[in-house]
Amino acid sequence: MARPQSRYVCQSCSESFLRWEGQCRSCGAWNSLVETIVREPSRAARSRPSAAGDPARPAPLAGLGDEELPRLPIGIGEFDRVLGGGLVPGSLILVGGEPGIGKSTLLLQAAAGIAGRPGSADGAVLYASGEESAGQLRLRASRLGLLSGPAGHGIRVVAETEIGRVVELARAERPSVVVVDSIQTAQVDELDGPAGSVGQVRESALRLMELAKHDGIAVVLVGHVTKDGTIAGPKTLEHLVDAVLALEGERYGALRLLRASKNRFGSTEEVGVFEMGERGLAELADPARAFLVEHESAAPGSVVAPTLEGTRPLLVEVQALGAPIAYGTPRRTASGLDPNRVSLLVAVLGRRAGIGLASHDVYANLAGGLSVDEPGLDLPVALALASSLRDRPIRPGTVAIGEVGLLGELRIVTGLERRLREAARLGFARAIVPRGSRGSHGTPGSSGSRESGPPDAPGLEVVTVGTLRDAIDAALEDV
Ligand code: TYD
Ligand code: MG
Repeated sequence: MARPQSRYVCQSCSESFLRWEGQCRSCGAWNSLVETIVREPSRAARSRPSAAGDPARPAPLAGLGDEELPRLPIGIGEFDRVLGGGLVPGSLILVGGEPGIGKSTLLLQAAAGIAGRPGSADGAVLYASGEESAGQLRLRASRLGLLSGPAGHGIRVVAETEIGRVVELARAERPSVVVVDSIQTAQVDELDGPAGSVGQVRESALRLMELAKHDGIAVVLVGHVTKDGTIAGPKTLEHLVDAVLALEGERYGALRLLRASKNRFGSTEEVGVFEMGERGLAELADPARAFLVEHESAAPGSVVAPTLEGTRPLLVEVQALGAPIAYGTPRRTASGLDPNRVSLLVAVLGRRAGIGLASHDVYANLAGGLSVDEPGLDLPVALALASSLRDRPIRPGTVAIGEVGLLGELRIVTGLERRLREAARLGFARAIVPRGSRGSHGTPGSSGSRESGPPDAPGLEVVTVGTLRDAIDAALEDV
């Protein structure tokens, strides 16, 4: 069989060359040549069989069929929630995360979930591992208690990195799901570049996409994340796949968050919360309180915020510290929070609320390794900074949420009622929220006051404030 030829194609002018060079001789771009397979025309035709005899014809929007997506529930509630109800057959999913965060663990557990579904056949999942040997996989499986039971036969493992053979195996065994761990170790024989190179990653992903679409198999790719938090490999990988999920958390902490940054078959708002334990990742009974830390006594610099991740309220603890510096430029360090936002809040606190941090190092983070970027965290962060600088704790049992404007004014957040109900359920007694916040029962102009019905959460005293200064007065405990 003739070996398909590969060429080095410039990514900026698409000129192709026989050998790799550092600079494109046609357009002069540096490092733009990527090894690419020259495809025979027949192949493109083969991958689109329906298009040939049935030319696409526009259809009226209202006349489009109502597409009910078949789903393959994994059986891990939190994972299904993020996917939007389970894996869609024929879809290609990328699961990213830092090394050691638990991607292989999560996917082996997911594979076991699929293998354990009633009516699921032997070999329902093909797990192609390029990262670990069969022995290492066995070790993990035994730790997870998966060697016996349906997973023992339902999951077939192959230590294979060549994607051509993985695709052949999948076509022969016809599993419902193929897991490729990881796309950075995957390669195709036709290309000479090393595994992990742009050309190899892209070609491997393209072939797996063809397998997914053509054979109706759900394919899950594991992807490594680089230091700056993006999935290693070509950016096109993220455009190619149907969903991009990220497993986040602090490597040495126990909590893990699964989040979708792209999902063609569901919402990108939902998060799944897991805890890494002795027997892999476990779902939490009460995720809303997972990120709360119990303190012996009220600590200055700590504020609890009722955040909303998609439709799920999560209570998180914001911690801040302002430490005076003797000389030099003060540092602003944030983890789990947007550092620019923290700098801005430091400026607003100084100019609008009399909390001067110009000669202080400022540190702010979220407890538990969570990272949240909603603007509603402004008020809790500002209150935590004020509390730290004044060395006065926030009144016990208080939560706060709201966006802070440049003038020190507070702005309302969405879903307030849901957040406050959750805070009340977890035993909080008081909430500081922006003025103008309204519950579902509030109607403008009712009861004669300008503030119509504040949000209603049983057992919670709701304090509405208009400015950051008022919020600080309402929040800090008198000493
Ligand atoms: P792993 O799934 O190998 O991470 P990744 O594939 O993302 O690189 O998980 C690695 C870590 O998880 C490792 O440090 C050990 C820990 N772990 C547990 O704490 N409990 C378990 O049951 C398992 C299987 C792993
Ligand atoms: Mg792994």
